[in-house]
Amino acid sequence: MKTELLFPTPIWVEDNCDIELDPIAEFAYKVRDEDKEGRRSSNAGGGWQSHDFRTDWVPNTPLKPVHDRIMMMAYGCADEFGFNDYRLSMSNMWININGRGAYNHMHIHSGSMFSGVFYVKVPSCCCGELKFLRPLEYQAMKEYWGCEENFDRYDRDYNNLDHFIPPENNKLVMFPSWMQHSVDANASDYDRISISFNIFIFSEHYINEVYPKGEFVNPLLS
Ligand SMILES: [Fe+2]
Repeated sequence: MKTELLFPTPIWVEDNCDIELDPIAEFAYKVRDEDKEGRRSSNAGGGWQSHDFRTDWVPNTPLKPVHDRIMMMAYGCADEFGFNDYRLSMSNMWININGRGAYNHMHIHSGSMFSGVFYVKVPSCCCGELKFLRPLEYQAMKEYWGCEENFDRYDRDYNNLDHFIPPENNKLVMFPSWMQHSVDANASDYDRISISFNIFIFSEHYINEVYPKGEFVNPLLS
């Protein structure tokens, strides 16, 4: 008998991007000082989120090495995913500063292809893990007759309901934008700083096989 695994879902993790983090953390606090209100999205518990950075403005900021590293990794992810004849564009990028008690509700990043997070400042303990959640309809079919007595949800991947990624300085995590995820509350007394982003994918077909030929228009910048 052989076992075949159908429809696997990838996430991609680079443990150490080797980017200088202090200037980015300093920049993050500067941006927050200028916009204390920030933006309300999935962030809760007092977490602060910046507004989106204009991607054409990012090269003028300490976020440039992060942006470049993300794009490099994203092309690798898209290749591995099996895309051909495409180009990528970062649609938006923003800063998160999560102090004690701050967390993010479960959400997806509608409208983009890849999303992710880069960790700039991570307290040594308990600062809120990134949690991916399995769509429950699969598991509910298996669990309608009971669960704990019949199998351990964490014993093997078939039964996992969620998957945790521990945050670490300089770690970059990327995933398909439709994956449900949340962030646990920061239980430490120190801030966790991260950069989040979304990436669009464009088909070269619609650049080269349309009229007028060869004119790439990024709808976000036009
Ligand atoms: Fe998210």
